Amino acid sequence: MRQPLGRRSRRDGTRLDGTGTPVSRDRARRRRGPALSALSASRPAALAERIERAPVLDRPVRVLSDTVVRALPPGPRTDALHGVPFGQPAHPALIRMPLGCWTSAVLLDLFRGTDRAAGTLVAVGLAAAVPSAATGLADWSALHRHQQRVGLVHAISQAGATMLFGASLLARVTGRRGDGKLLSASGLAVATVGAYLGGHLALRLGAGASHAEPIDHLAALGWHDLCPLDDLPDGHLARRQLGYLSLLALRQGETVHVLSDHCAHLGGPLHQGRVVTVHGALCVTCPWHGSTFRLDDGAVMHGPATARQPAFESRITDSAWVQVRPQARRHRARPEEAKPG
Ligand code: FES
Repeated sequence: MRQPLGRRSRRDGTRLDGTGTPVSRDRARRRRGPALSALSASRPAALAERIERAPVLDRPVRVLSDTVVRALPPGPRTDALHGVPFGQPAHPALIRMPLGCWTSAVLLDLFRGTDRAAGTLVAVGLAAAVPSAATGLADWSALHRHQQRVGLVHAISQAGATMLFGASLLARVTGRRGDGKLLSASGLAVATVGAYLGGHLALRLGAGASHAEPIDHLAALGWHDLCPLDDLPDGHLARRQLGYLSLLALRQGETVHVLSDHCAHLGGPLHQGRVVTVHGALCVTCPWHGSTFRLDDGAVMHGPATARQPAFESRITDSAWVQVRPQARRHRARPEEAKPG
């Protein structure tokens, strides 16, 4: 018996066409017509995904990215902006200050708080927006292109919100209270759009999260055979597989340094990087954005990565096999953190 279009199977709720055949999602969407398709495409996540795929943003992305990279050469200042000394990106923590102040100011406006308190919050939020923007730009300059597209629109939204709150402060101090409140409310609306895109960037696209493989879940405790020692070229980076894990190995005579191969920043292949010495410690530099990790224990010597690279202990058996086991987490001061003497 023919079933009417759109009818659902009694068993599992699958949409059926007129012949009783299950209709694929795309087909069902096409049949619903342009109005409903537009509605689903206007969901915030769909819009953010469109921004990811918008090559029209590439030119401004390139210009701004080149400017930021020139202004922030590798070094302690750039590392601090990334959040290397704190072990996590600084931007998400700093952005709470302007957003919190501005939200509170708008609430005070709504619930008849004092003008002075609301104006003070707007001003403090403006001051706090400066370090938030600096840390955000530093992180943004070392992202993949589709992340940078979303990040650019996020930055434009937050810059627009900052300008609206700046205009609000000006209106408040010149006695135009009504304008000041209106501008603040508009600024908060724009900042909320920017915050949504920031969330998309961090939580959907993984900017800021550690991309190193979770060795605690993938590597069982105890020693594991990795490969014969003779299979490792002396003095050269090599990649070896341990079950699901890709490991970076550097042999130096009878010593083998082993780290997880996927860079904690965005998963770059560390075995294609360079061996360098930083403060006397042997390190590997990621080929993608230059994060530098100490080979001994995976400590971050230079960003943009902020999370430690998972490290392994190694030993050589009597039969000349390299064995590895996950290194117990320990904090060893980076050389520049150690007290003199
Ligand atoms: S992936 Fe960006 S520094 Fe390694």
